[in-house]
Amino acid sequence: MTLNIGIVGTGWFSKVHGDILAETEGVRVAATCGTSMEKANSLASRYPGAKGFDSLTAMLDSERLDAVYLCVPPMAHEGMETELIARGIPFLVEKPLGVDWDGPNKILEQLRRKPVITSVGYHFRYKQSALHLKELLEGQTIGMALGAWMGSMPGVGWWRRQEGSGGQFIEQTTHLVDLLRYVAGEVEEVYAAYGNRIVHEQHEGVTVPDIGTVTLKLSSGAIANISNTCVLPGAVGEVGLSFYTEQGILAWDPDKFEIKNNGVSTSYSSTDNPYVAETLAFLHAVRTGDASRIRSDYADAVRTQAVTCAALESSLTGQSVRIL
Ligand SMILES: NC(=O)c1ccc[n+]([C@@H]2O[C@H](COP(=O)([O-])OP(=O)(O)OC[C@H]3O[C@@H](n4cnc5c(N)ncnc54)[C@H](O)[C@@H]3O)[C@@H](O)[C@H]2O)c1
Repeated sequence: MTLNIGIVGTGWFSKVHGDILAETEGVRVAATCGTSMEKANSLASRYPGAKGFDSLTAMLDSERLDAVYLCVPPMAHEGMETELIARGIPFLVEKPLGVDWDGPNKILEQLRRKPVITSVGYHFRYKQSALHLKELLEGQTIGMALGAWMGSMPGVGWWRRQEGSGGQFIEQTTHLVDLLRYVAGEVEEVYAAYGNRIVHEQHEGVTVPDIGTVTLKLSSGAIANISNTCVLPGAVGEVGLSFYTEQGILAWDPDKFEIKNNGVSTSYSSTDNPYVAETLAFLHAVRTGDASRIRSDYADAVRTQAVTCAALESSLTGQSVRIL
């Protein structure tokens, strides 16, 4: 049976997902939805037979879709998940789930009343190196972890506005918070300090902080610090999460995993494409009803969202915030 997939959003990441779907056997991109017919038709033209729409309702009324990919900016989710849940249509939604926690939590309540298969684009979980890291950590006592997402400011306008993206920690560094939860367990409390140093003077209309550091207390008793910045001048940057245990250092980044203990260092390069693995796990669930290969579903991602939103609250109040 061929699966018919719809894609909402017509930007960079819709194309990434759409192209993977188009290359997957037994799947077709049947419909695309954008903020204008022009944008929707332009994306649809990449995929043979796909039709463009300028509203989700029109797309769902017209096409019999087996699943929908939601690849819209954080502030643009309004009503989309609710409509898909009401119609019983599985969806893969890109991270972050929104700019706050209340909206996603309401959607979670809807899902509890009327479950559909969901997957969230926390793709680091699908890296083989992340699984290796998780397995090793299960046999060790984590002392602490240090993470960093040090980069430059993405070019899209919505990212720069606090109400558009939620800021770097909610929009981008969320990947590291989610990986921390995946391999080291739940976060109970956060304390954050954010600042505005450079970027708002370089560009008009920037309201997101451009530096931040967040201390996280885990249920296990371990402590983590995850810092981020978007002040760097392009072409230079670093992203990674390192764990310090009684056995040594486990240093993970998206391309490489390094284990250092007793003067011996073992390095694994990791070139597998986690987006393909993520999509195959989701499609398997849609086809068979077996969701066990999905490593981040909506309910799990709401917990990551709770941590990143608590960090924002802490940065504003100057107080640490406990996560319920
Ligand atoms: N998992 C990852 O590695 C990864 C990487 C990049 C982006 N993303 C996520 O994907 C999402 C989209 O990012 P992007 O880079 O494609 O952004 P983008 O700015 O390139 O594209 C966003 C698209 O959404 C459209 N849009 C906005 N509001 C809409 C609405 N109400 N209905 C339909 N379309 C609407 C815009 O017109 C635009 O085409 C973001 O949440 C981002 O965080 C995830």
